[in-house]
Amino acid sequence: MSGLLAGKRLLVTGVITDASIAFSVAKLAQENGAQVVLTGYGRLSLVERIAKRLPEPAPVIELDVSNEEHLAGLADKVREHVDGLDGVVHSIGFAPQSCLGGGFLDAPWADVATALQVSTYSYKSLAMAALPLMSAGSAVVGLTFDATKAWPVYDWMGVAKAGLESASRYLALHLGKQGIRSNLVAAGPLRTIAAKSIPGFDQFEDAWTERAPLGWSLTDQEPAARACLALLSDWFPATTGEIVHVDGGYHAIGA
Ligand SMILES: NC(=O)c1ccc[n+]([C@@H]2O[C@H](COP(=O)([O-])OP(=O)(O)OC[C@H]3O[C@@H](n4cnc5c(N)ncnc54)[C@H](O)[C@@H]3O)[C@@H](O)[C@H]2O)c1
Repeated sequence: MSGLLAGKRLLVTGVITDASIAFSVAKLAQENGAQVVLTGYGRLSLVERIAKRLPEPAPVIELDVSNEEHLAGLADKVREHVDGLDGVVHSIGFAPQSCLGGGFLDAPWADVATALQVSTYSYKSLAMAALPLMSAGSAVVGLTFDATKAWPVYDWMGVAKAGLESASRYLALHLGKQGIRSNLVAAGPLRTIAAKSIPGFDQFEDAWTERAPLGWSLTDQEPAARACLALLSDWFPATTGEIVHVDGGYHAIGA
């Protein structure tokens, strides 16, 4: 088997449609020599149907990252398909509607807590659940949306992403001694189910398509997926706690 990820065994979370960033990661990873195991949340039969559209149909394990039993049983379930993991992809985000679309000042703590548990804390939970299968050289990669700024409609999801960016640095700190890396890809706006759930998301779409120095496609998940693959590969052996922007250069400009 040849390719950037030849022989690597990956656990990829976050596939719900074939527009999911995770779907592109799984597809490209298989095309580049990796063996992929998926996890699915909620509508498992849908995830299983989408998994069959990959070049190699991938097994799907049920995982709600806020369910302690699912997390505790994850390593054993993964072991039914692969004998270890070289990479784990966290492609998970959720916030109740009250937390988005301008609701920052009114969202109740219970809703904010859900957003933080599923979108931020889960990065650590997932890594720890998979840790028994990982060894030196393994990598964890997650997806963020640049959290250095307050965006018009992102609200508590923005706070959750700021926490995720910090959590990735702490994971890098704590897993570094085992030779395990943690990095994030900061993607520009892409039309996925998660994006469509944000009222006013079109504001991001307009800003990016008008201003990103390289231009930006709202429907091409491959650039973000490629960066995930690169970070999972052996080509970033000394990089951890990093955030790679895949946003057409938008973060670098002041417009
Ligand atoms: N689409 C964008 O514009 C964009 C930009 C930057 C970063 N991101 C991030 O990329 C990641 C993937 O999102 P996407 O845009 O591909 O959307 P998506 O809707 O395809 O994927 C989000 C996934 O999160 C999963 N999920 C939600 N709650 C969960 C739970 N409790 N347990 C396990 N899984 C759960 C969903 O099942 C879904 O598969 C998210 O972290 C998102 O914030 C998206």
